[in-house]
Amino acid sequence: MVDVPVTRLKKLGFAKTLRRDNWWVVPFLTFLGLGGFVVYATWSAFHPAVASGAPSYIWHGGGAHYLSPFFSPELFGSDESWFGAKPAWIPGWLPFSPALLILWAPGGFRFTCYYYRGSYYKAFWGDPPACAVGEPHRGHDYRGEHKWPLLIQNAHRYFLYLALAFVVMLGLDAWRSMWFTGADGASHFGVGLGTILLTLNVVLIAGYTFGCHSFRHLIGGFMDRFSERPIRKACYDGACKLNRRHQLFAWLSLFCVAGCDVYLRLLTTGILSSDPRLF
Ligand code: FES
Repeated sequence: MVDVPVTRLKKLGFAKTLRRDNWWVVPFLTFLGLGGFVVYATWSAFHPAVASGAPSYIWHGGGAHYLSPFFSPELFGSDESWFGAKPAWIPGWLPFSPALLILWAPGGFRFTCYYYRGSYYKAFWGDPPACAVGEPHRGHDYRGEHKWPLLIQNAHRYFLYLALAFVVMLGLDAWRSMWFTGADGASHFGVGLGTILLTLNVVLIAGYTFGCHSFRHLIGGFMDRFSERPIRKACYDGACKLNRRHQLFAWLSLFCVAGCDVYLRLLTTGILSSDPRLF
């Protein structure tokens, strides 16, 4: 029998490691990207300017109809909302914004996403900051997601159903952005920069949603045999392809949704005087 030497591993302190690469770059960029997005989205949600009668999230210049994805669907708020003005049952002392009524759904979907979890556990909680890097000694190391509070992450499969509905609604917004009211009062097909951004937005969000692990399971991952279900197999293969790019779609769709909101704000506040039209 051969004696195998035993090496005792020593637990290192926070951020201590034997790694020689720049392991901190990815968690740091994740911290900046996600932190910046949350700060901007919160600021934007609380500045809808509905009371002035000219919401800062809808642009009608040049006959367009562009709605910021942060505020879509608009349940209550402006004249164009689904159910009219702010309802009386919302207390007056509560800050009101149409975005706050709906953002919890896509926000919850992203917060519980398998990819984002892995990223923000590292970037925000440092638990651990990266593979083989020392974590803070808090006396309660990560123990999986089968206990509270992380048990909530299992709600991801339910947030998926809401996210699928959002893909449809953002698709309708993109379609609406392709129709411009002309001087004759009729709708004419056209494409402006806002149309391109809102269409790109729904394409990226669809790529992110249809590449979700839970969607992959829903579309066919739960089955034992695909041989008798060619259509389901094709859908599953498509979801797997998107899943391999899930991280990419997660970031691109995040930046695009914020970019759409920024663009509409620049238009509605007059910083940009017009929306460039291709035709
Ligand atoms: S795993 Fe990322 S959205 Fe479902």
